[in-house]
Amino acid sequence: MNNFTYQNPTKLIFGKGQIEQLSKEIPQYGTKVLLVYGGGSIKKNGLYDEIMTQLKNIDADIHELSGVEPNPRITTVRKGVEICKKENIEFILAAGGGSVIDCTKAIAAGAKYDGDAWDLVTKKAPIKEALPFGTVLTIAATGSEMNSGSVITNWETKEKYGWGSPLTFPKFSILDPVNTFTVPKNHTVYGMVDMMSHVFEQYFHQKTNAPLQDRFCESLLLTVIESGPKLLNELDNYELRETILYSGTIALNGYLQVGYRGDWASHNIEHAVSAVYDIPHAGGLAIIFPNWMKHVLHEDVSRFKQVAVRVFGVNPEGKTDEETALEGIAKLREFWSSLGAPTKLSDYDIDDSKLEEMADKAMINGEFGNFKKLNREDVLAILRASL
Ligand code: NZQ
Ligand code: ZN
Repeated sequence: MNNFTYQNPTKLIFGKGQIEQLSKEIPQYGTKVLLVYGGGSIKKNGLYDEIMTQLKNIDADIHELSGVEPNPRITTVRKGVEICKKENIEFILAAGGGSVIDCTKAIAAGAKYDGDAWDLVTKKAPIKEALPFGTVLTIAATGSEMNSGSVITNWETKEKYGWGSPLTFPKFSILDPVNTFTVPKNHTVYGMVDMMSHVFEQYFHQKTNAPLQDRFCESLLLTVIESGPKLLNELDNYELRETILYSGTIALNGYLQVGYRGDWASHNIEHAVSAVYDIPHAGGLAIIFPNWMKHVLHEDVSRFKQVAVRVFGVNPEGKTDEETALEGIAKLREFWSSLGAPTKLSDYDIDDSKLEEMADKAMINGEFGNFKKLNREDVLAILRASL
């Protein structure tokens, strides 16, 4: 293992009825509150009213920013920053999924910056301060509720970048599985694909001694593989929602990745695709990840063999390591397809006309990926295999 320091300052508040903790947590930071949410799911399922009750209990001065889009845009971040500055907001509450939380992180940092928030996303300016914020998570997927990362899209320039700072961890996150009951089937699937992809990004690292981290990763994958299909048949099953919700948080709260560096190339390629085509993040991952795996297989066949045997139950007897590894990748594709995830870019009507543009976007900071460094030709090969 590499030397490491692990600190995650987010207070995780998990379980049924935990929304009541809002009125205890928020006053520590102030009562001028900006509530940020998406396209209206929290109004339909009653969560909005529950939050309002809590905010009224503490006599909060409530301001709202609604309409955060999936793949949140810098234009929406700017609206939130303006409200924070004008109204002297003291605390931001994000109620939604990764998109709402990521947008809130950018608003929190933008509110304490004199220039345009896009400078922070593009790392043109450092993040020196941020407003405190908390989250009420409504969908199991990104892990944004317990990490400091955020992904923001500039639709005008067709750019989508990840950024983050130690100052953009949520102060607390409330995770009640009941709040995820209304997540429709397709987004439930995307969430599971995303969390499994996060585990894979971390699992494929260059060999160091990390047997415990390997087992943590494998157990998370096995848990999603076991519970995911059952959940799709019973979307309001509390225990299954609970299992998947907790899995999503653990998959990307930094805990699995201590002592080594994960790869993260597939996420970089996916962000380039969804910058150009605005497709769901995990839809893109379901298509790209297995093709990335085949492309980089020979960097270290043994890791692919290990996951094939331990997670996908492939019997290695009488097979070469490569055959076992490829069978594991095929089983992953089969599993995601069985959930209803897309398999090809053409499932989103994406053809080969913008491959070069997507490759250029992926290469903006030069070669990337820690398991195998990818160059432009690699990216094009993975995208072509994904058509
Ligand atoms: O906008 P509303 O009306 O709330 O509807 C949302 C949205 O349409 C809906 N939804 C969420 N909770 C619901 C619900 N519908 C009914 N009932 C509920 N309880 O689901 C749709 C998708 O929501 P979104 O927040 O976009 O999903 P997700 O959590 O998957 O977030 C995706 C975004 O996160 C970024 C992605 O790139 C993408 O922009 N990522 C952020 C990461 C991070 N910060 O660590 C890491 C990830 O790899 C990812 O890149
Ligand atoms: Zn992801």
